[in-house]
Amino acid sequence: MKSVKKAIFPVGGLGTRFLPATKSVPKEMLPVAAKPLVQYAYEEARQAGIEQCIFVTGRNKNAINNHFNHAFELQSVLSENEKKDMLDKVASWLPNPGQVMFIPQQDPAGLGHAIWCARHAIGNEPFAVILPDEMVLHKKGALSQMMDAYKKYGGNVLAVAEVAKEDTSKYGILDIEKEISDTVVQARAMVEKPEPDEAPSNLSLTGRYILQPEIFDYLDKHQRKHKSGDGEIQLTDAMESMLKYSPFYGCKFEGKRFDCGSLVGFLDACIAYSLEDKEVAKQVQEMLVKYNESEVRKAS
Ligand code: G1P
Repeated sequence: MKSVKKAIFPVGGLGTRFLPATKSVPKEMLPVAAKPLVQYAYEEARQAGIEQCIFVTGRNKNAINNHFNHAFELQSVLSENEKKDMLDKVASWLPNPGQVMFIPQQDPAGLGHAIWCARHAIGNEPFAVILPDEMVLHKKGALSQMMDAYKKYGGNVLAVAEVAKEDTSKYGILDIEKEISDTVVQARAMVEKPEPDEAPSNLSLTGRYILQPEIFDYLDKHQRKHKSGDGEIQLTDAMESMLKYSPFYGCKFEGKRFDCGSLVGFLDACIAYSLEDKEVAKQVQEMLVKYNESEVRKAS
């Protein structure tokens, strides 16, 4: 079994749900506690053994490139002033030269199209995909947990989590063929954003994928069959077509999932990650108590 060493980060989206914040700042650069979303995704990938990170970007996304580069003026001032902690935050985690690549997605034609844009960089090997606006809070990242399942079962592995029935229309949803273990299911089919009464289950795709390179044969067809008629090329549709020839497993990872594609999910993540941050946790906790108390006062 070939190991997974490359990951694609689709970061070309327009971030329309976060306007006006995302008018000039890429959505992926929004901070959760003091770290941008895209850095969490990158660190999760590195923890899982990924050596090459491929960012599929759009226009006005240069802040992401800059974030993965040295910031010479800042670093020299911090170094002159012996601000070691701050220097670490700026540069200690940076990838080595040659480990990151940026590919423009010239048309914002959907997630499937973004992945397809990276086909030459991936070549003929299995790869991971991480959507930075989905976060999983756990000391062993979701992708590392998926790697364990991949080593055991091979094929394609998708991170999945249960959602409320009324939320199925926000996600790709799995139809389950069988349970393989407590944490792994095999998919029979999958559908992108079904209405609750048409959803085959409430097991949603959560923005982490390990895929075999054959997926590009399906993405090459540029299918746009998504019923919502948004005309986007969906990764879910390509996976659904490939499923007859290559197994797809859903991996129920441990950890709390945050859908930072929505404002409420993002705010939830900001609170949860701040409570994990030793520097501010206590104050945030006090803040929450204060707000809660004022709610109680208002209600009485
Ligand atoms: C994408 C995928 C969807 C997945 C979701 C996870 O949708 O197409 O299958 O469930 O990410 O957040 P998007 O949120 O980009 O519309």
